[in-house]
Amino acid sequence: MSILVLGGAGYIGSHTVDRLIEQGTETIVVDSLVTGHKAAVSKQAKFYQGDIADRDFMRKVFKENPSIDAVIHFAAFSLVAESMKKPLKYFDNNTAGMINLLEVMTEVGVKKIVFSSTAATYGIPDKTPIKETDPQKPINPYGESKLAMEKIMHWSDVADGIKFVALRYFNVAGAKPDGSIGEDHNPETHLLPIVLQVAAGTREKLQIFGDDYNTPDGTNVRDYVHPFDLADAHILAVKYLSEGNDSTAFNLGSSTGFSNMEILKAARDVTKKAIPAEVAPRRGGDPDTLIAASDKARDILGWKPEFDDIHKIIETAWKWHLTHPNGYADRN
Ligand code: UFG
Repeated sequence: MSILVLGGAGYIGSHTVDRLIEQGTETIVVDSLVTGHKAAVSKQAKFYQGDIADRDFMRKVFKENPSIDAVIHFAAFSLVAESMKKPLKYFDNNTAGMINLLEVMTEVGVKKIVFSSTAATYGIPDKTPIKETDPQKPINPYGESKLAMEKIMHWSDVADGIKFVALRYFNVAGAKPDGSIGEDHNPETHLLPIVLQVAAGTREKLQIFGDDYNTPDGTNVRDYVHPFDLADAHILAVKYLSEGNDSTAFNLGSSTGFSNMEILKAARDVTKKAIPAEVAPRRGGDPDTLIAASDKARDILGWKPEFDDIHKIIETAWKWHLTHPNGYADRN
């Protein structure tokens, strides 16, 4: 049995490939390298460069690897702000990409898919922590494109019996503890890597977007989860489907919230750097607080996140940052 990982050269995909290989699973990776990095992919995985929208290419990948039993699908664009400006890019790549993929999976008879969904499918929650059964009302095209993908999988399941697990991530942060793989986006828009760029002196100061939110210190509160723990959740989700269980969705977060100010303070503690920061105007579309109820993943998948301490998460990201100040040097 082997697993096909789509988007396996990306931030979370590369950590999952690494874990699969560590566990001795035969792993095939497809990535277009538009945002992913070849250097992030374990050398022990079989690698194909290509686009999941190219059906002939995807047919070839399945044909050459008849042992593929399940697909883990990370291949998507994921910048909220960009999606507000270029919504069609998101529906084309993310949503239409899913349609192509499911058509080819149906043709070749591969009937299990684990999918990277997002807390962005919930939009502005009525209450926290957020449960999987809470209303999904995205407030940006990125979240909408992922919600549409969840719905498309549901109807493919009804019609063709393709079973899926949608994993709705909250805020992902951290790197492999040995510092060999980590987060490398261009442009970088996420809080923790930006904070660490300031700590390292490659960016002048942090701008904290808004301090008048309805939270204890006025800055947004987010729930941080480590890619190593996400990788484990994907592998547990494949096992869940292999045991014949029904399609479903799980939230993945630590169920603890940290404000942007608290992240800054924790990063100052870990890095021992001053990290200059100023309060700037709100960024559009940021909900006050996003915290996951993740007991469903713990109870049903048996998921036990190892990185339950924000300092430990920041330490791993800092190690990656110090050893790779320019990310993956090849910029692939
Ligand atoms: N922030 C700053 N300054 C910065 C960058 C971010 O203050 O320079 C703030 C944001 O305003 C927000 C918090 O830091 O309050 C976290 O922002 P990120 O951009 O790191 O993450 P988001 O919460 O916006 O988004 C992340 C993922 C999305 C996913 C979402 C769901 O990037 O893909 O979590 O929770 F949809």
